[in-house]
Amino acid sequence: MRTPLIAGNWKMNTDSNSAAALASEIAKRAGEVQDAELLVCPPNVYLTLVRDAIGDASVALGAQNMYHEANGAFTGEISAAMLCDLGLQYVILGHSERRHILGESDSDVNKKALAALAAGLVPVVCVGEQLADREAGKTAEVIRGQFDGSLAGITAEQIQSVVLAYEPVWAIGTGKVATPEQAEEVHADLRKQLTERYNSEIAESVRILYGGSVKPDNAAELLGQPNVDGALIGGASLKADDFLAIATAGAAVG
Ligand code: 13P
Repeated sequence: MRTPLIAGNWKMNTDSNSAAALASEIAKRAGEVQDAELLVCPPNVYLTLVRDAIGDASVALGAQNMYHEANGAFTGEISAAMLCDLGLQYVILGHSERRHILGESDSDVNKKALAALAAGLVPVVCVGEQLADREAGKTAEVIRGQFDGSLAGITAEQIQSVVLAYEPVWAIGTGKVATPEQAEEVHADLRKQLTERYNSEIAESVRILYGGSVKPDNAAELLGQPNVDGALIGGASLKADDFLAIATAGAAVG
């Protein structure tokens, strides 16, 4: 059984007051969500205050990115060790905004994933096709390329500590959600790749999240798909009510 993971990617949003308020509200009401794991990923500058606002509630903390080197002259970057030092458990890697706005390659994502695993963080590795890829019938090819490139060299033991996230770029922040069938098709293919590279037992243990315009009113249908094991939520994760409603829907069908 895979426990659904409901992850909020706050992106470059909130300020110190609203980040603390949002985290406190989610922490206070975390007990409403049974049978799903909650994760929030605030901007780096608010990680400490969000950690303190969460306290000992059942809400995990993650970052939205990191650099693969351990330390040194890398101005502006932060390492996996620093995230561990703050008590984080997760880090999102290879989000499409980092791939397509900031130019990250599969090889960058791969180096980061290996460094995160070595430090004991759980990487949430994102893949997803752009609209032109989908229209050209290249979705599976693009996702397979990202899977191979981003997860190169990850051992059978390590992959069991990885979370995958399928985020079709055309569905992010657009209100245009993938249909449950479109999501399931890609998730099932990702699980097939896990089976081919590792084995079916390992493939069955890896959580694969869907992201892209997940809202309370579409969550149950998406998360009810057999290979959809949670959600990576942008806009709707900035409202505690919506985030928790998605989590409740996910837990009910997970
Ligand atoms: P939205 O939920 O705002 O579409 O964002 C999805 C996303 O990119 C989460 O990482």
